[in-house]
Amino acid sequence: MEPVNLHEFEEAARTLLPRQAYDYYAGGANDGITLRANREAYEKIVLHYPVLRDVARRDARTTVLGEELSFPVMVAPTAFHRMACDAGECATARAAGRAGTVMVMSTLSNTAIKEVAAAATGPLWFQLYIYKDRAATLDLVRRAEAAGFRALVLTVDAQVWGRREADVRNGFSLPGGLTVANLAEHAKANFPAGVSGSGLAAYVGQMLDPSITWDDLVWLRGETKLPVLVKGVVRADDARLAVGNGAAGVIVSNHGGRQLDTAPATIDALPRVAEAVGGRLPVLVDGGIRRGTDVVKALALGAQATLIGRPILWGLATGGENGAFAVLEMLKAEFDLAMALCGARGVKDIEHSLLG
Ligand code: GLV
Repeated sequence: MEPVNLHEFEEAARTLLPRQAYDYYAGGANDGITLRANREAYEKIVLHYPVLRDVARRDARTTVLGEELSFPVMVAPTAFHRMACDAGECATARAAGRAGTVMVMSTLSNTAIKEVAAAATGPLWFQLYIYKDRAATLDLVRRAEAAGFRALVLTVDAQVWGRREADVRNGFSLPGGLTVANLAEHAKANFPAGVSGSGLAAYVGQMLDPSITWDDLVWLRGETKLPVLVKGVVRADDARLAVGNGAAGVIVSNHGGRQLDTAPATIDALPRVAEAVGGRLPVLVDGGIRRGTDVVKALALGAQATLIGRPILWGLATGGENGAFAVLEMLKAEFDLAMALCGARGVKDIEHSLLG
C-alpha cells in the first residue's frame, strides 16, 4: 500500500532496510528523550485558526538567502544516503530539484561533491564538519565552491559524538564498499578498523576537531565568499554570538536528537532564538517535522523555513529519487492544506496569532 503520510513512509522503510541502516538513520542519543520530544512538542501546539478569509488562491513559495523555494521546507543534511538506495545522494539532489527546494548535502556522504553537483537539478548547500586536518576541511570548501554550492552549513553541535546506543549494539559500519566519499583524497574515507561499538563514533573521535570555537566560524568565513549558516543552536546567547560572528543564518537544531539527549525540542527553542536574532538573519528549524501543520507552527513561531532529514531517507529507501520526491510533494500538499485551513494564502499570512 502506498504511504499516505510521512509516518507510513518510515514504516515502509523499516521493513525494507537492513536493521543496521534503519537503526542508524532512526536512532537518537541515549534514551531518545530529545528524539521523541522533537515530535511531541509539535503535537502539543494547537492552531487557533481564523475563518472566512478568502483562500481560493494560494502560493506556498518563499525565499531564503536568495534561494526560491516552492514551499518552506528544505532537505536537511543527513549522512550516508547510499545505504538507503544505490543512487544515494544523487537521487536526493534530483528529488530536491524536482520539488523546487534546496538540498543540504552532508560532509558524511557516500557520493562525492562533484558527482552530486553533476546530478543536481536545483540549488545545493554543503554541510561542513571541521576536521582536525584543516587542509582537508578547506579542500571540502574549495570543492563545494568549485561545484557551484551556494552556502555552507557549519554544524556546531557535534564536536564530540552523541552516544547512539543502537549503533554501539550493532557495531555500526558502512556496508558493502560504501565510504565517506568526500574524504577519499585525504585517506579519511573509511571508519577505523578493529574497533568495537560504532565505527562512525570512532571515525568522528579520530577525525573531527573537538576544540572548535566561535573563532573557527570567523576563520571559515575568512576562507570563503559563500555565506556560512550555523546549525545546532538552541539558546538565545548562542544565537547572538552567531550574529556577532558573522553567520549568514541560524538553524535551530539538536541534530535530530542524536547528540545531547534531554536537549530541548527544537520547536520549543525556536522562539527564543528567533527573538535573539531579531530578524537580522534567517532562522531555520529542523527536528521532528512530519506534517504540514508542523511547518505552519514553525513559521508562526519565527522560522523562515524548515528542514526535514529522516523522511527523505525513508523516501529513498522506499522508492529512490521518486520516493524522496513523493515525501517532499506530500509535505507540500499538507502544508498547502494547513495554510488554507489557517486562513493563509501565503507564508506571509502565517502569523503568531495562530498560536492563540
Ligand atoms: C551525522 O551527522 C549523524 O548524526 O550521524
